[in-house]
Amino acid sequence: MRQFNIDTIKSWERFYRANFINCLTGFKPVSLIGTISPQCVPNLSVVSSIVHLGADPALIGYINRPIAAAPDTIQNIEQTKSYTINHIAAHFLPQAHQCSAKYAPEINEFEAVGLTPLYESDILAPFVKESVVRYQMELVEICPIQYNQTFFVIGALQSVFIDESIIGADGFINLEAAGSILSLGLDGYAAAKMITRLPYAKP
Ligand SMILES: Cc1cc2nc3c(=O)[nH]c(=O)nc-3n(C[C@H](O)[C@H](O)[C@H](O)COP(=O)(O)O)c2cc1C
Repeated sequence: MRQFNIDTIKSWERFYRANFINCLTGFKPVSLIGTISPQCVPNLSVVSSIVHLGADPALIGYINRPIAAAPDTIQNIEQTKSYTINHIAAHFLPQAHQCSAKYAPEINEFEAVGLTPLYESDILAPFVKESVVRYQMELVEICPIQYNQTFFVIGALQSVFIDESIIGADGFINLEAAGSILSLGLDGYAAAKMITRLPYAKP
């Protein structure tokens, strides 16, 4: 096995280095964040940095890239406080991936990529109709990370739309059955295959 130290990694060509670093943390959940601007333009963004922050209260966070690189989602969230998170499945993966393109803020990304917006009553932000696991979030806090100009966006779960048949008797969600996929790096996608479930570990 070969060791690459950080000086070697820094010397690599930009895209090679980015691919390498982006893959290193492993397979990640990948979803579309749905928002709407105050001018009523719906927006979608591919996000793979989604992380569970706590179950009670139910908090979920994600990392937003620097504003210059990814301005629309974070600004819509800041202004409206409302956003949706929609799992991606293989049958609409090309359209979902296309949402990572940097569209101008006045472009309706649902129309641009060919996905269907779904508005639920009393929820401002649009859902993605093609997604079968989708949930509504409300902004709690945006934490700027000064070191690399990114943002940790924290939201409180408000409601979940999901087929009851994939929820187990103990609340475990069968995301393999839902067809929710994983991402690797910035352009790799994989199917999830459960290995097992294990009992709660005790010393
Ligand atoms: C697989 C994949 C994962 C991504 N994950 C993130 C992420 O976690 N955070 C982020 O800010 N951008 C991420 N992006 C990039 C955004 O999708 C992209 O910058 C998008 O244009 C942002 O749009 P916005 O201006 O509407 O926010 C990812 C892109 C891909 C293809």
